[in-house]
Amino acid sequence: MFEKVEHIGIAVKSLDLANITYTQLLGVAPYKMEAVESEGVNTSFFMVGTTKIELLEATKPDSAIATFIEKRGEGMHHIAYAVDDIEAAMQEATDKGFRLLNDVPKRGADNKLVCFVHPKDCNGVLVEFCQSIPPPARTLAGTEEEEE
Ligand code: CO
Repeated sequence: MFEKVEHIGIAVKSLDLANITYTQLLGVAPYKMEAVESEGVNTSFFMVGTTKIELLEATKPDSAIATFIEKRGEGMHHIAYAVDDIEAAMQEATDKGFRLLNDVPKRGADNKLVCFVHPKDCNGVLVEFCQSIPPPARTLAGTEEEEE
């Protein structure tokens, strides 16, 4: 069910400044920057071996990241576990008594379906389940078929 720790999310006040810091620390630039409008965040991703570091900056004062930073300051925000079947993972967690923060998987950054587990049920750590969304299938007949 759990394939690996997919990424670790870190809440930051300024994505621009944190990008500079983490580029210096890790010796690589972010491979992706992405806004997730629905969550009110800007994100950037650094690859570290096969795990990623996700930096998150709030774009709205009422976003979860803004609230987190207000309460606890910058810092580690969540640990994301890669799952092969997010709905099965959600069902299994629910069956075991864990409270989920969303009832249906939602679209996250970096081509993922995500669901969060209540931090109070995970010793104070916000847990994310994430499942990769395959790129859109090439269903249209046409030139793409000739690429092979
Ligand atoms: Co995440």
